[in-house]
Amino acid sequence: MACAAYAHAIIKNAGGRGFVYNSMKRSGWYENTVFYEIYVPSFCDGDGDGTGDLKGVISRIPYLRQLGISGIWLTPFYPSPRVDNGYDIRDYRNVDPAFGTLADFDMLLRKAHQAGIRVIIDMVLNHTSDLHPWFQESRRSAHSPYRDYYLWEKEIPCNWESFFDGSAWEYDDTAGMYYYHAFSRNQVCLNWSSPQVRRECADILRFWLDRGVDGFRLDVINFLKTDRGAFHADNPVENGVTRHVYDKNQKGIYEAIREISRVVHAYPGKYLLGEIGEDDLCLIKSYVGDGLLDSAFQFNLGSMEKLDAAFMADQMRRMEAEGVYPTLFFSSHDMRRHFNRLCGKDRTKAELLAVFLLTAKGIPFLYQGEEIPMEDVPVESLRDLKDIQGRYGYDKKLAEGESEEAAFLYARERSRDYSRGMVEWEREGDRDSLARAYRKLLDIRKRHLSLSMGEYGEIRQQDGLLYYQRIWEKEKIGVYLCFDGHSPELPHTDVLYEVMDGNGRTRGIMRYEQEIG
Ligand code: BGC
Repeated sequence: MACAAYAHAIIKNAGGRGFVYNSMKRSGWYENTVFYEIYVPSFCDGDGDGTGDLKGVISRIPYLRQLGISGIWLTPFYPSPRVDNGYDIRDYRNVDPAFGTLADFDMLLRKAHQAGIRVIIDMVLNHTSDLHPWFQESRRSAHSPYRDYYLWEKEIPCNWESFFDGSAWEYDDTAGMYYYHAFSRNQVCLNWSSPQVRRECADILRFWLDRGVDGFRLDVINFLKTDRGAFHADNPVENGVTRHVYDKNQKGIYEAIREISRVVHAYPGKYLLGEIGEDDLCLIKSYVGDGLLDSAFQFNLGSMEKLDAAFMADQMRRMEAEGVYPTLFFSSHDMRRHFNRLCGKDRTKAELLAVFLLTAKGIPFLYQGEEIPMEDVPVESLRDLKDIQGRYGYDKKLAEGESEEAAFLYARERSRDYSRGMVEWEREGDRDSLARAYRKLLDIRKRHLSLSMGEYGEIRQQDGLLYYQRIWEKEKIGVYLCFDGHSPELPHTDVLYEVMDGNGRTRGIMRYEQEIG
């Protein structure tokens, strides 16, 4: 029985159907913000130990300000054994010494705010590290007040698999029982039926809100285990692949998210972004709105497998038809970098995608270093395989009797190490760097509200050329993007931005089309 690897599953499931709604009402500052994802372990090394840290982030705030982004998403920086690079939290109210101190965090927040940059932080409420004191207490005794914080069973109750690979049930010698983990066995799922767990999580959110964060990115939030009864249903297995049906979107999930939303929105102006691992449009939509999430990630465009103007136009139209205000991104720490995946390392294509990201309708999330542009780091040997999802796959294949080579090839496909290499800041000033293009585009976006606030006018595509209009009050801007290498005749009047390829041919134009009325 096989289980699709986690990121892979999201990407595949997206298959052109994943939309994310931001409710029809558009009123929050975040809808006008361009976010930049900072994967803390590999963004910038501030103390010379070779890995990223908060001092490194602080040192780059002037750069980010100059780039023109207005929000940061900080991935987990909390104390953690870092089995899953911080998505396994041991202490929710502190900073991992490898990344700095709480004082560094406060300084980061202050400096970012002074630079006009808002900060949202990743919050992992679905699971804790197995080294979290709650879990250590929970396993020790059936009478522990913490026993009920996690999901213990005497026998394995169902066939559920981890999103990383292998069974989701792990036997614990100390407890003499099995516990449930949706990801690695070191990321133990919390029991969201427990009022005490909910209170603890609310307090954690308040801790960071009181420090002044501008919101949260809630990790895998529709995976919360809110219904113990669900354990009695096996997930369907089709062609050897488990479909995750009963282990997410459980009964009680909306009430749990409402509770979180009440806590967060009791602080005015805070942003609640949720990662919804889903491909069903209506389901995703159902998590967003008043009293729920402010927005959620969509994977339909971000995870497309090749640059395809027809596909993009189709997605844009469908989002329009459904009244979607999406999040836009093409790279993240969970997927391969789009410079490799979609652009085949073609700088012109990367620039065209930057234009799209910053002119299409939605909330852009740039991934650290895409503006340089950073490339995927190769995973060529077992030594390079650091990601837990890859390592899990390797162990699983060996246990199934596969050769080391076959196990490595399987694991390499699943590994998320590719996009997690240290950002090569020394390349920022290179002739080929895209940073100047991003800066200019961000500047144009700031000066032309139609690019952030505007509705779509026409959306068209033909022979690899994508064309769309953004309209706001009296302003109409047209964007032409030619992804497939040919250079059609494009109008060259009132040009706001032009993308030229290495042969001096125009491949993209953003132009001021007309004043209405
Ligand atoms: C994060 C992954 C992580 C997983 C489990 C995802 O949303 O983006 O990096 O492995 O959650 O916490």
